[in-house]
Amino acid sequence: MKKILILNGPNLNLLGIREPDVYGNRSFDDYLSVLQSQYTDVELDYFQSNIEGELIDKMQEVGFSYDGIVLNAGAYTHTSVALHDCIRAITTPVVEVHISNVHQREAFRRHSMISSACCGVICGFGLDSYRLGVEAFMKR
Ligand code: DQA
Repeated sequence: MKKILILNGPNLNLLGIREPDVYGNRSFDDYLSVLQSQYTDVELDYFQSNIEGELIDKMQEVGFSYDGIVLNAGAYTHTSVALHDCIRAITTPVVEVHISNVHQREAFRRHSMISSACCGVICGFGLDSYRLGVEAFMKR
């Protein structure tokens, strides 16, 4: 059975409450349980942290044994050399995902520190961006 980790960064614990006009009004827990019921032939694990080092610890923990990581690094996407280095250090491929289309928003969101280390980027499809990320690993 394939193992995939969905990893959410800062402020994504507030999905459903945070800026609903941008991120929607559904909680991630609610979305995740539906996603897991759609993918019964894969182990879909989930972790969220607001702390950069905890995201790195988690990627190092699973990053030599899992089949894929679907990463929404939140604002660390735009700032973190440490996440970039971690993605390069592990052997598990990482897909970068974003709920919003970051290219339609403020200029500072157009640059990603992690895209060049990831195997692909998905953004702008709402919560469905995560499913598309999982789907990418099902085909690999
Ligand atoms: C986000 C986009 C980022 O720019 C932002 O900092 C987030 C969420 C998204 O999913 O659209 O926290 O990654």
